[in-house]
Parts: sequence; C-alpha cells; structure tokens
Amino acid sequence: MTEDIKQRPIGIFDSGIGGLTVAQAIISLLPNERIIYFGDTAHLPYGDKSTAAIQAYAVKICDLLIEQHCKVILIACNSASAAAYELVKEYVGSKAKVLNVIDPTVQHIGQLYPRKKVGLIGTKQTVNSNVYRKKVDELDLGINLQSHATPLLAAMIEEGFFNDSISESVIHTYLSDPDLLGIEALILGCTHYPLIKKQIENFYEGEVDVLDASQIVAQHVKAYLQGQGLAAEKLLGDHKFYVSDFTRSFEESTRIFFKRQVHLEHYPLWE
Ligand code: DGL
Repeated sequence: MTEDIKQRPIGIFDSGIGGLTVAQAIISLLPNERIIYFGDTAHLPYGDKSTAAIQAYAVKICDLLIEQHCKVILIACNSASAAAYELVKEYVGSKAKVLNVIDPTVQHIGQLYPRKKVGLIGTKQTVNSNVYRKKVDELDLGINLQSHATPLLAAMIEEGFFNDSISESVIHTYLSDPDLLGIEALILGCTHYPLIKKQIENFYEGEVDVLDASQIVAQHVKAYLQGQGLAAEKLLGDHKFYVSDFTRSFEESTRIFFKRQVHLEHYPLWE
C-alpha cells in the first residue's frame, strides 16, 4: 500500500503559469516524481483578488488534484499560499498532504538571517495578508522583515518584459523604496520572479542575497518526501499540465517558466 502512495503524483497549482518555475525546480531535483500541474489562467492574477475568491478557486483545484490521486498538493503561488493554505489543508484532510511556498522560505531565513533586516517583494495579496511577517515574528529571532508590494512585476514578466530596459526601470523604481534600504537578503515572494533574479542581483551589485523561493521549496519538498517515506522510486507516466482557460499565448509562455514548451490541457473549473 505504501508503495502505491509513493508512486502517486505531486499536484502543483498556481494562478497561472508562474508556478512552473517551482514545478521545474522540483522535476530537476526529483526526477522520479510525476507532477500534475494546474494553472488557474481563467482567474489570474490572484494577486489582486480577495481572500474569499482565492479560497473558492483553490478548493475547486484541489478537487481535481485529489481526483488525480495526488499524494501531495503544493500551492506554488505565494498569493494562494497566503490566502488559502489553512483552508485547503482542512478541506483536503487526510486525502493528501498540503504544502505551501511560504513556510520553507520563512524557515530558510530563520536559519540564515537571525537579527538581520530582510526584504520581501510580492503581490498585493501576499504583502497585505502579512502572512510572511506573522510567520517570521513567530520565529522570534529578531528578524526585521520589510515588505513592499510590486504588482506590476508578474504581468510584466508574463508579457515577456525581462532583461530589457522597461523591466530595468520598473525593478529599479520598486527596489529603490526606502523600506527596502539596508536589507541583507530579499525574498522573491512570487513564483514569477525567478525570471528577473539576475536583474535584481545586478541592481544590488552582489550586496544583497536574492532568495529564489523555487529552489528553496524544491529542497523542502525533497526533504519532506524522504522524511515521510513518500519519495517515488521511478518515474511512471507523463507529467500533466492543465489550465482553466487555454490560449496559445499561455502555451508559448510555458517555455519561459519551464525552460521548454509543454502542452496545456484545457480543464474549466466551473462548467
Ligand atoms: N504566481 C503568483 C504568486 O506567486 C503571482 C501571480 C498572480 O498575481 O496571480 O503570488
């Protein structure tokens, strides 16, 4: 029976295709794991949505991932992790384990930056929810977390604006905010942002550690699966990628986030 559970897929979901950065990191680190990815492209961006709306979408997505027998459901979206993790965990119950992208990052900064000033950038939902701050404060390690909402960045990246002068100027403006002055590390609190990590590192000229949550989360998933005896022994079957609204442009953009283009299957959440 345990054997059977190990070979079940990992369900990963995001508001759209940004969470493919996390899926990519997981597949690279854990090549035996099969993933079922769901991008809620009909409802993106989550960053500007209410908590109640994100919770309703998340529950619907979990129904699909449970139907597909996922052993673990990873919320690969900071906005949804902030808004819906506790609810989803309760909803899913014993049917699957639920992980989010915030806890591993908070653990990581707890290990490396006690008594330091750390910055966070993310969507309005992520920053205004104060979830990172609450979890960092719970560590009680004297970490001074300064958050700044950067709502233009996800849309900018999705439109292919990175490594160019437009993105340089947007990044420069956001990161020059006085709240972020004097930080030792910056959390990229949105699954789109690994695409602009280099530009952010260049902005800081190597003076600030830029934390790519997709790598941190993939390491966490690996340790978690091993710790729980849930790691797959071999890759059985193909990965699957669903979206709630299909467009050719989403499919083409999977190349940006996943390093190769993948076929997206249309799966409407509400019929
Ligand atoms: N990928 C989402 C996140 O990590 C951001 C995009 C959105 O606003 O939907 O927060």
